[in-house]
Amino acid sequence: MTSTPSTTATTPTLTPTTAVPAPLLRLVLTGFMGAGKSTIGRILAARLNWDFLDLDAHLEARTGATIPELFARHGEPRFRRLESTALVSALGRSSTVLALGGGTPEDLTNRLLLEQTPGTFTVFLDAPFPVLFDRCMLQDIARPVLEDPAAAQLRFGRRHPLYRRLAGLTIDTTDLSPEQTVEALLATVFPPGPSPYL
Ligand code: S3P
Repeated sequence: MTSTPSTTATTPTLTPTTAVPAPLLRLVLTGFMGAGKSTIGRILAARLNWDFLDLDAHLEARTGATIPELFARHGEPRFRRLESTALVSALGRSSTVLALGGGTPEDLTNRLLLEQTPGTFTVFLDAPFPVLFDRCMLQDIARPVLEDPAAAQLRFGRRHPLYRRLAGLTIDTTDLSPEQTVEALLATVFPPGPSPYL
């Protein structure tokens, strides 16, 4: 964990584990379902005056089908292949905040794409499984892989180290609002002073 939530201030002190690329062309948000990738991504993009792209929505637009329809019609393996091709397309965009699907980093090719596409910096929005599960239960989003909570918890355990390794920055969002998370992220990626990134 690289974040240290302070007791009084609202902006935690964060330390990236990899350098922010210069120029920075896109910020990628990763994490399990319920991490806040889309909510935080929209706020972040507005603050930067960048575009926001949700990989699930991008995939739905490309296929003309919803995520549950893709799972039901073709099964998860085919969904994952479609997700990878959508990722390749999404990584062609600049000045963009990209919210991944919760399962995107499970695929090695996807991780390599994210690590090796120049100008890309990935941030892991972390929280414990029960917190994420409760957040998902409060949302009106159909998520096929949450139908079996025990299996979802196993996925979380499998993915957690992958999220950590992929990201150059981890933010523990357990006690942060989306706005506080964005403040922490911006303060770390764009520290005060002349910016070499933009
Ligand atoms: C999935 C997460 C979902 C979506 C699909 C599968 C997963 O995205 O891609 O339902 O395997 O964790 P969100 O994390 O945006 O809900």
